[in-house]
Amino acid sequence: MAETRAVNSLGQQLVEAHCISCHASSYGGDGSGIYTRDYPKVRSLPGLKAQVTSCNTMLNLKWFDDEEQHVVEYLNQRYYHF
Ligand code: HEC
Repeated sequence: MAETRAVNSLGQQLVEAHCISCHASSYGGDGSGIYTRDYPKVRSLPGLKAQVTSCNTMLNLKWFDDEEQHVVEYLNQRYYHF
């Protein structure tokens, strides 16, 4: 899955810092299997935004909307491709 576009690196840093441990404990490796599993929960770009917002709220990270947008963009570029 070679990417020709540049990946959103701020989004990547945020995900690597805050979001991997938990997913990795269920899915192994870097946890990215959660995004690419056979029946992903997230099925649209607005759904992805909603999931990132709800994880942000659950974890009490207090990300700003633009930080959520970077994460949405990164996850979409890297895994979902909506
Ligand atoms: C405390 C553990 C935990 C942490 C930390 C966590 N998640 Fe999750 N995440 C989950 C679980 C559990 C699910 C599966 C939820 C389900 O199946 O309903 C999930 C699912 C997801 C999905 C949907 C995957 C799919 O099926 O398409 C996305 C996107 C996601 N998380 C993003 C994030 C982001 C972004 C962060 C960092 C802000 C984060 N998660 C941090 C536990 C966590």
